[in-house]
Amino acid sequence: MKIYLETMGCQMNRLDSELVAGALRSAGHEMVSDADSAEAVLYNTCSVRLHAEQKVLSRLGADGKRKADGRLRIIGVLGCMTQRMGEVLLQQCPQVDLLCSPGRLGELPGLLSAAAGGEPAVALDAPRTQPPDATAESALDRLDLSRDPAATPNPRQAFVRVMRGCDKFCTYCVVPHVRGPERSRRPEDVVEEVRRLADAGRSEITLLGQRVNSYRYEHNGREVRLAELIERVSDVPGVRRLRFITSHPSDFSDDILFAMRDLPNVCEYLHIPAQSGSDAVLRRMNRGYTRAEYDALIDRAGDIVPDIAIAGDFIVGFPGETEDDHAASAELIRRSGYKNSFVFKYSPRPGTQAARRLADDVPAEVKTRRIGELLAVQEEVGLAHHRRYVGGRVEVLVEGVSPRADRQPTPPPVGQVQLTGRTRGDHVVVFDGPAVLAGEYVQVDVLDADARTLFASREP
Ligand code: 5AD
Ligand code: SF4
Repeated sequence: MKIYLETMGCQMNRLDSELVAGALRSAGHEMVSDADSAEAVLYNTCSVRLHAEQKVLSRLGADGKRKADGRLRIIGVLGCMTQRMGEVLLQQCPQVDLLCSPGRLGELPGLLSAAAGGEPAVALDAPRTQPPDATAESALDRLDLSRDPAATPNPRQAFVRVMRGCDKFCTYCVVPHVRGPERSRRPEDVVEEVRRLADAGRSEITLLGQRVNSYRYEHNGREVRLAELIERVSDVPGVRRLRFITSHPSDFSDDILFAMRDLPNVCEYLHIPAQSGSDAVLRRMNRGYTRAEYDALIDRAGDIVPDIAIAGDFIVGFPGETEDDHAASAELIRRSGYKNSFVFKYSPRPGTQAARRLADDVPAEVKTRRIGELLAVQEEVGLAHHRRYVGGRVEVLVEGVSPRADRQPTPPPVGQVQLTGRTRGDHVVVFDGPAVLAGEYVQVDVLDADARTLFASREP
């Protein structure tokens, strides 16, 4: 069958989609990039904010019309939204034939055959209060283990799951409800997967976990934590860059920072969301740390790894957020000197503690203003951060021709194009060079910077 698969949301969803596409191909299906030519459309959905869900619902509406016209056979919804809404999704959208929640993705090829035969095709996770279903878990494990290392979307980069789920229950967050309890993968399996990826030329590896620093695998009474896992993965021949996302500010032990300092291929990059700079808001969010603890962690990171690049996330307009709370977030951005921050408007998610107990009382226009204010501070801070690199030399993994070739004042010389790539610290770099450099690591001299980009030149 010709299948179109579209992915919303985070890196974890992207990885799930990559693995699911591989499993569907192995089952004899063809993945197509154009929804109009597909017999089945699948959406791998995100429930973190309302906006992401609304986008899927509107797609489903249009697909329903195509199905009624006989141009489409199967409509399937995968991922977080299926788990959040369950069978209600089928009642709201009767055109949907297939539901598959994140913990059941290992069973997707079978579900698709069932749907094609007109049978019910619904696989939802049991609520997290029940013990995990052993069959579903082992099907999931096989999804990671049977991955084709040559089939990553990018010939140099690969994402590798180290754990699933989240036990943190931040009050605004739907993830623990839809992705279930934390389960860490066997370190040997992670290392083996990285080895196969590196053998296939994937030299930039990113380890993935919703709260990656809570990785823990116990075997024979001994516990392997993230720092040790990083060390083991960094030993795999061919791994030139190693990153891990996303870190949570609690339980972030210094041995992770020492690994970053001491292991040459572990990149000086940390994505460590603060969410707010105010203790009162952090408490209502159930984040599990204070502002002072977060500040101390950022200070330690900078002391141990002086050239570290840090990225943050913030939520504006969380219930009860005052102007003072908001000012504390702005001040935290300034103090932390982030490379970049992702800033989101609070979106109440059904089933979460915040949605149940706290009124969404910050008006929409105040959220809009606050998001603008935090982004303006980040712009200043990001500029200062990027300017630190001007006059120095950085290593770039070249991704390809820059999608925005207007970013440099002068056009590239004959035979060259404007290339874009990333540093070890995940900074975007643009420079002129021959197109054949795509996929290579090159050294470039940084001449200028704005808040998001380093402008560089390469000595031939
Ligand atoms: N509303 C707004 N932003 C949210 N995030 C998570 N849940 C919500 C929500 N209900 C943000 C957090 C998280 C990022 C992935 O999404 O900042 O770090
Ligand atoms: Fe959500 Fe908090 Fe878990 Fe991150 S740590 S996935 S924000 S509950």
